[in-house]
Amino acid sequence: IPVKIWDDSKEASMHIAQSIALAIRQKQQDGEHIVLGLATGSSPIKVYQELVRMHKKEGLSFKNVITFNLDEYYPITPEAQQSYVRFMNEHLFDHVDIIKENVHIPDGTVPIESVKKYCDQYEKLIDDYGGIDIQLLGIGRTGHIGFNEPGSWENSQTRLVRLDNMTRTDATKDFGREEDVPYRAITMGIATIMKARSVYLMAWGHHKAPIVQKAVEGDINSSIPASYLQQHKNVRFILDKAAAQELT
Ligand code: F6R
Repeated sequence: IPVKIWDDSKEASMHIAQSIALAIRQKQQDGEHIVLGLATGSSPIKVYQELVRMHKKEGLSFKNVITFNLDEYYPITPEAQQSYVRFMNEHLFDHVDIIKENVHIPDGTVPIESVKKYCDQYEKLIDDYGGIDIQLLGIGRTGHIGFNEPGSWENSQTRLVRLDNMTRTDATKDFGREEDVPYRAITMGIATIMKARSVYLMAWGHHKAPIVQKAVEGDINSSIPASYLQQHKNVRFILDKAAAQELT
C-alpha cells in the first residue's frame, strides 16, 4: 500500500482537501458530477474544515457533488446528538452549497423489516450514479473501515451489522454511557468500498499505530478488514508520524 507520512494531521488534511477540490473542479469543467464517499469520526474533520474554507474563500462550489456516507448507527434518529446526519451537517453540508438531494447517508430510522431492501437500494443508487470517485476512510482500532468489523467478507455490500465491543467502547465518549451506544449500524460493505476509483485512508495518533501496521504490512484477511485495501489499485494511507511509527 502506498503510504504518505506527514508531520501532522493538519498538513495531511489540507493536502487531501486540495486533491478533492481539484477533482471537483475538473469534473465541473467537463460538466460532470463527482461522487464522494464520506466518513465521519475525528479523522476527516480537518479535511471538511479545509473544504469549507475553500468554499467560503476560494469559490469552491459543491453544486456538482454527490455524496454517499459510509455508515450510520442503527437505530438512531437524524436529530440525535450522535447521528452521522448531524455530524455531516455540522462539519460540512451546512456550510457549503451542496444540493440537499445529492446527499446520501444511511437512514438509521428504517424499520427493521425493510432494512435489507433499504441497503440494497443504497448500494444500487451508488452504482446508478456511476460509482464512487473518491472514498475517504478512517480506521477503527479493530481494523474496521466503515463499520465492517472483523469477520466482514470481502464481497460484503451495504448491510446491517453488529458493532464490535471495542468500537462500542470507543463510541462511549460520544454517547456518554456505554449502554447508550447502539449495538448495530448500517454500513457500506468491503466490496462497496473496493469499487471506489480512489481511496484515501486517514489515521492520526499513536493509538492507531498498531492497527495501521497490521493493515499495511499484515496478511490480508477478514480479521483485519482494512487489510483488504492492499488489493485496491488506487489507495493511499495518509498518516501522521505517530500513526506511522510501527511501520517497518
Ligand atoms: C466513520 C467510520 C469509521 C471511522 C473509524 C475511525 O464513518 O466509518 O470507520 O472512520 O471508526 O474513527 P475516528 O476517525 O474517530 O478515529
